Amino acid sequence: MQYLLKVEGITKTYKEKTALEDVSFSVRNGEIFGIIGPNGAGKTTLLKCIAGLLKINKGRIIINPPENRKKIKMGILLEQSFHPYISVYGNILQHLMMYGFDKKTAIRKTDEYLNQYDLTGMSNVKPGRLSLGMRQRLALIMALIHEPDIVL
Ligand SMILES: Nc1ncnc2c1ncn2[C@@H]1O[C@H](COP(=O)(O)OP(=O)(O)OP(=O)(O)O)[C@@H](O)[C@H]1O
Ligand SMILES: [Mg+2]
Repeated sequence: MQYLLKVEGITKTYKEKTALEDVSFSVRNGEIFGIIGPNGAGKTTLLKCIAGLLKINKGRIIINPPENRKKIKMGILLEQSFHPYISVYGNILQHLMMYGFDKKTAIRKTDEYLNQYDLTGMSNVKPGRLSLGMRQRLALIMALIHEPDIVL
């Protein structure tokens, strides 16, 4: 089986609190894998461990196994971190340019994203004035801009 991500028996504790205990699963190339659980179950902790934002106590996480080794880009939608003082349009444009797109391409892509994610009417608004769902859509654009191989 060709997998892109494998989580093997991981445990994560915050001081005395065990947030994850012996979690194992693998995700194949092209697969959409969902994790559900009540508040506090450890979902965000798990994503942070996979992204390398938290250190695990036990087990291992294998991303991009040796047999299909190539450069892997990861996109993550966790906390919504936008620039608060620039518009929705500016946030997307700046993010694209940060990833190396030239200005002309970045402008075209910004318009495409706004249209595709139904945010065109909000392009001049600052992120703080968006509804929660709209902010999630903006965060999704930001997570996808560099065309990642894995999206968390
Ligand atoms: N920085 C932290 N320090 C200590 N405990 C933490 C920390 N972050 C999370 N926890 C604890 O770890 C457990 C898992 O939290 P986590 O945020 O991963 O849950 P979740 O499944 O994402 O919940 P939700 O559905 O509310 O987003 C909870 O008991 C939480 O209180
Ligand atoms: Mg969470």
